[in-house]
Amino acid sequence: MRGDGTLRSLRIGDRELVLEKGDITRHKADAIGNAANSRLAGGGGVDGAIHRAGGPAIMAECRKIGGCPTGQAVVTTAGNLPARYVIHAVGPVWRGGGAGEDELLASAYRSTLERADAHGVETLALPSISTGVYGFPLERAAPIALRTVAEHLKKGKTSLRRVTFVLFNDETMAAYEKALGKLAAGG
Ligand code: APR
Repeated sequence: MRGDGTLRSLRIGDRELVLEKGDITRHKADAIGNAANSRLAGGGGVDGAIHRAGGPAIMAECRKIGGCPTGQAVVTTAGNLPARYVIHAVGPVWRGGGAGEDELLASAYRSTLERADAHGVETLALPSISTGVYGFPLERAAPIALRTVAEHLKKGKTSLRRVTFVLFNDETMAAYEKALGKLAAGG
């Protein structure tokens, strides 16, 4: 814990939850998460960056799968990326907070973690789902994201050894550092 109550990594048994600033398409992990839309149609933000860097093999598989409901995730190849899989999660669009957004966001992360386990993934990188184009407030999304991953890493049965949130800018990094500090303090 730093003096201001923020934190960059948390050990959970022999597993680890880490925060890192950067571009997820450059991150080396068994799998990386994507913040996709329910048509799996590609778009801007991290989705656009993943398809650009990974090449057309990812979209070809997305087309075959056809779509994914909000709160769920599907797995494709990672194409040219330095990962084996991309796990495309569909987070909720922010509609003011009364439309089940919190639970749908947690569910998108849970589904991603379950898919990772099903593929024997040991190292997973995740973006901050829904906090870009979809407008989910960062200060509310960060604790949900971290709590959901921490709960999963506490489970006896998971292939995951390290989950790293790869956060694109200072604002997002600061919100997650603050939320991880609170989580570690039991909040
Ligand atoms: N690496 C890591 N994070 C990134 C990157 C990157 N290369 N590029 C953008 N981000 C961050 C954004 O800064 C934001 O914090 O990803 C987070 C999620 O933002 P979006 O990508 O806009 O995702 P989301 O809010 O879930 O909206 C999904 O956006 O482009 C579309 O197809 C996508 O329709 C879907 C919608």
